[in-house]
Amino acid sequence: MTKTSPTPDHQTPTRSAPEQTHLRSRMVGGLRREHAGSTQALTGWVHRRRDLGGLLFVDLRDGSGLVQVSFGPDWTDAEALETAHRLGAEEVIRISGEVILRPEEARNPDLATGDIEVQARSLERLNRATTPAIPVYRGPEDELPAEELRLRHRHLDLRRTPLQENMALRHRLILATRNYFDDLGFLEVETPVLTKPTPEGARDYLVPSRVHPGEFYALPQSPQIYKQILMTAGFDRYMQIARCFRDEDLRADRQPEFTQIDVEAAFVGADDVLEWIEGLMETLARVAGVEAEPPFQRMSWAQAMDRYGSDRPDLRWALKLDDWTEVLRTADSNILRGAVAEGGRIRGIRLDGGASLSRRQVEAIEEEAKAAGAPGLLWAKRTADGGSGPLSRWLEEGHWGALEAREGDLLLVAAGPDRVTSPALAATRRAAIQALELPRVTDHAWLWVLDFPLFEEEDGVMFPNHHPFVLPHPDDADRLAEDPLSVRGVAYDLVYNGSELGSGSLRIHDPELQRGVLELLGMGPDEIDGKFGFLLEALASGAPPHGGIALGMDRIVKDFLGAASLRDVIAFPKTTAARALFEGAPSPVLQKELADLHLEVRRRSGRGAEEPQGNEPT
Ligand code: AMO
Repeated sequence: MTKTSPTPDHQTPTRSAPEQTHLRSRMVGGLRREHAGSTQALTGWVHRRRDLGGLLFVDLRDGSGLVQVSFGPDWTDAEALETAHRLGAEEVIRISGEVILRPEEARNPDLATGDIEVQARSLERLNRATTPAIPVYRGPEDELPAEELRLRHRHLDLRRTPLQENMALRHRLILATRNYFDDLGFLEVETPVLTKPTPEGARDYLVPSRVHPGEFYALPQSPQIYKQILMTAGFDRYMQIARCFRDEDLRADRQPEFTQIDVEAAFVGADDVLEWIEGLMETLARVAGVEAEPPFQRMSWAQAMDRYGSDRPDLRWALKLDDWTEVLRTADSNILRGAVAEGGRIRGIRLDGGASLSRRQVEAIEEEAKAAGAPGLLWAKRTADGGSGPLSRWLEEGHWGALEAREGDLLLVAAGPDRVTSPALAATRRAAIQALELPRVTDHAWLWVLDFPLFEEEDGVMFPNHHPFVLPHPDDADRLAEDPLSVRGVAYDLVYNGSELGSGSLRIHDPELQRGVLELLGMGPDEIDGKFGFLLEALASGAPPHGGIALGMDRIVKDFLGAASLRDVIAFPKTTAARALFEGAPSPVLQKELADLHLEVRRRSGRGAEEPQGNEPT
């Protein structure tokens, strides 16, 4: 058979609009006055129906927006009209009709398609819908249903425009991220999801192996070790939009399953990473309509803790902490003197005009400090006739002057070790800003926090501040053995409006140094080889100096949108109790499935003992 070139009949018809399909001529959201006079086939959901007897209006919604469709006896066929009168909310329909300009008085400036409406000629019901468990249409006065209910019926909740828009922004940010790194020569490499544990400070989600009884994979807390191995394997620049899993206590800015923009590069210094990420943030901020003007402010971890009590200070407000140890150590107070004698500091916040806060408001601020771990807050108001508040009785005229407190000011003071007072004063700062409604100096505060300590200590146990692969700061490395807690790492966090968007470091590439750090963390040779032998082997094979960062994609979307919770930017999020309410996970499994995995579930009985239990089919 001879091959002929395809005739025009064999060619795919060209589509006049990219949104066109075999069922519709376009989507509804882009209909404008210039379409008046055209005939369109439109599909979507019945958002709202208003029946005015002779005339019937349906707000037709699709993934792009809403348009008003009118059905009238003069222009809609009789059968279609009959169906239209019986349409229920959220039914799926297809109409065809003519776009007409609305009369001036009927235009709706709040709706993008509000200059026009579509006069339906025909109507086809593509699918029925059960009565929605939560309404998708909301009038201006209607409140959102409770979040738990919305998560339980997520498929309906996701039909709301704000959530559709959030997911669309998320998509655009991910796309822009991939393009940005592609332009810089980064390669996206997928790393495994069934892995060996990577320590990022949370518990692992474990997956039992069926073929290897008693052995488990871990879901990755991050691709950290894999990306370092990719560096030793000669991939010069790596990135990945990576899913991470952490079994930790959840908050509004934490999900058990989340997405990182994970980045690593060989032969780099910290500045390379910081500059790349500043460029990325500038790009992403532009997509989201947020301000980001590199270079971002930089501050050491020590400065951040000293000035703001936090390693992620919110610099939208200028308010800072002061160190008043020298001034107040002479005050006649056992609390203050005792704190200094034990090596602590006396730090506080001076609030111009803060004396206008009522006692109750000041006590509410103190409650925040206590919730952050301080035994209490000392405070004093400078008044016309001296001072008031618990601290004032120890303050003499010289103290007020040295504290630069003027009439009308409020002083909030915490005394003790920084470990206790820093979080307390950070909470005090936040609460004071709120209580006094202090003005912002900017709406978009970007900050790099640098040189985090390599280790932290709690109850005599030392653990890594980030993870155990951070390169010790070259200026401090010689103190690693005798004073490890004083050693800084070449580590950096990106902070936006007080939220930690990302965290990274240069890495240890010398296998001996890496082994030494793991030993400092209390691991013996067997544990080191068992957990990290494969990393050490890779480092010993000729590892280039390397470093990188990971940014929380979900947090970026949330913070750019100013959303209250990560749940608003994740299509199928978990609750704070780590449950997926819509699909119902986690859920029990059958006894047989457990047996295949060599597992037995033990549940606590009333007497506190553990008893094996089966999950029988229900
Ligand atoms: P880290 O653990 O700091 O570093 O994580 C990096 C960023 O990921 C985001 N993030 C989260 N987002 C939502 N829910 C969570 N539970 C959650 N946990 C973390 C944050 C955080 O800044 N491997 C290192 C990075 C590196 O060194 O390159 C790491 O994972 O925005």
